[in-house]
Amino acid sequence: MTTPRVFITRKIPEDGLHKMQAAADVEIWPRKLPPSRELVLEKITQIDGLVCLLTDPIDEAVIAAGAGKLRVISQMAVGYDNIDIAAATANRIPVGHTPGVLTETTADFAFTLMLAGARRVVEGARYVREGQWETWGPTLLMGFDIYNGTLGIIGFGRIGQAMARRAAGFNMRVIYYDPSSDPAVGRSLGAESCSLEQVLREADFLSIHTPLTEDTYHMIDADAFRKMKPSCVLVNTSRGGTVDPRALYEALKSGELAYAALDVTEPEPISMEDPLLTLDNCLIVPHIASSTVRTRNLMASMAADNLIAGLQGEPLPNCVNPEVYSEKGGEQ
Ligand code: DGY
Repeated sequence: MTTPRVFITRKIPEDGLHKMQAAADVEIWPRKLPPSRELVLEKITQIDGLVCLLTDPIDEAVIAAGAGKLRVISQMAVGYDNIDIAAATANRIPVGHTPGVLTETTADFAFTLMLAGARRVVEGARYVREGQWETWGPTLLMGFDIYNGTLGIIGFGRIGQAMARRAAGFNMRVIYYDPSSDPAVGRSLGAESCSLEQVLREADFLSIHTPLTEDTYHMIDADAFRKMKPSCVLVNTSRGGTVDPRALYEALKSGELAYAALDVTEPEPISMEDPLLTLDNCLIVPHIASSTVRTRNLMASMAADNLIAGLQGEPLPNCVNPEVYSEKGGEQ
């Protein structure tokens, strides 16, 4: 049997890389920026397995170019909105992702952003570095209490639930919107399932944990900001596309919203001309919520397990489109 060929769109952490290199003839795209579309379109015709990241658009044309030879697509991320899953399924190509291993790390970071936003940590640090700290000020950089506040969560999957567990330590009331979640799960965590409208109106802190889909694209828009408390702190560690960036700018600028702490933006990276970067009440970091040494190694390792299973013709341990294994497969 010939050694399968694999293309990895960036150098990934070693735990995963070593596993992949032991199982396949691996080519790694060596640069910091993702490979061009042209290059992916060329590579995909020559490989048995593709390891990709959320920065790689794996659309219908890319998948069609790989159809027939490509046996597996393994994404090193839990989210997969960059991949045309319907096209992969239609071509009976299983797609792997990395759920679970990044849950607590991402929730830690979402909570960090919430605390940092509410207590104006970044503004305070800048104030000191700029030499503005002349005395203790009775009203200096006043923020918002987290303790006893109401945390609104949009999307009550693994990460949303992990946020609710953290909030319990701060005696917060937790309300959430997720039509697909069993209310018993919420009750077991002391959290209340509500309408989107109620979550928007009552949250002191609003944290987004929903995947990006056609339904969630710009779900936080001008209309949503009008419903929210002006003292609300918005946290987004999901995908930038869930929030309308122009409406966010207007809400932050006009005082309709107190603060936004964003790990994700639309687009990514954010343009240096984006007006959000001019606002003191907007904290933006570069999509690093899952970035700890341990978790990124676990994600890479899980991506390797999915890749290797796919190359061997076995079901992926974490497959986005398991219907490729049913008798009807990808038939539409
Ligand atoms: C994911 O996995 O989808 C995150 O956004 C990156 O860790």
